Amino acid sequence: MSSLLSISDIKEDVGNIIDLAIRIKAGNVEDKPLEGKTLAMIFQKSSTRTRVSFDVGMYQLGGRAIFLSSNDLQMGRGEPISDTAKVLSRFVDGIMIRAIEHIDVVELAKYSDVPVISGLTNLEHPCQALADMLTIKEHFGSFENKKICFVGDGNNVCNSLLLIAPLLGMDMSVACPKGYEPNNEILKTACEYAGENNTEIIVSDDLKIALDDVDIVYTDVWVSMGDEAEANQREMDLSPYQVNKELMDLANENAIFMHCLPAVRGQEVSADVIDGLQSVVFDEAENRLHAQKAVLYYYLK
Ligand code: CP
Ligand code: NVA
Repeated sequence: MSSLLSISDIKEDVGNIIDLAIRIKAGNVEDKPLEGKTLAMIFQKSSTRTRVSFDVGMYQLGGRAIFLSSNDLQMGRGEPISDTAKVLSRFVDGIMIRAIEHIDVVELAKYSDVPVISGLTNLEHPCQALADMLTIKEHFGSFENKKICFVGDGNNVCNSLLLIAPLLGMDMSVACPKGYEPNNEILKTACEYAGENNTEIIVSDDLKIALDDVDIVYTDVWVSMGDEAEANQREMDLSPYQVNKELMDLANENAIFMHCLPAVRGQEVSADVIDGLQSVVFDEAENRLHAQKAVLYYYLK
């Protein structure tokens, strides 16, 4: 059964899923395509956008979603992930999971007879990247000659953006201090995709190099869920990478600012940037709904 754990799982279909999201957002799909279908949603970590957009998305497509906090599942008391996957597969048509460890989602998908969709792990956040690309396409009309720069901690969100950008023909740079580079395996795969699509990937600790000719400046929190013990060190190391007016001035004049949210104003982004005219963060958040409806249609229909 095919699942969405990584952007690599939809390597050939990324553009089609974004176009489907555009059609769904415009109301150009049949009524209630997922009537009678149920999505189980397992959360091992907090969520606002992912939880609500998947729930509302299933409802709008004619199906329903069941929220399952891992603390309340037998899984939280040690029932094997493999048994959980086999049992849920007998009841529901798809499983969405936000997990602490990526390997647990791989295990769930291995034993599941229904599609598994990742709603974030320590390694990737594929649904976020799809919503981000939908937002970029809406804003600029196409991906052609566009360059995105991720600034800060080379985390799960950065990893999924690195994989998706070259597949859509975009250049990508990452501006991060030493020690905060994106996952090495993902970077290797992203560079392969860039080679296949004639695009460029740069990772640099030099803001001027990374932000040269950039159309989209993207950042995320310095302290991701699970990194709380390192909060002080991270704030010290990442403070030169705050996205503020001065940093935005290194990008192109018409550049937009993006953030997956939740954001910490005064840390990774200044309030005047995230609340300013260049920011598209709330369009981006709304697009989680439309992009995920496309994912649900694609996997569950
Ligand atoms: N961006 C995102 O995934 O937000 P939540 O943690 O609120 O789901
Ligand atoms: N990098 C963040 C993203 C939250 C949506 C985290 O993992 O906490």
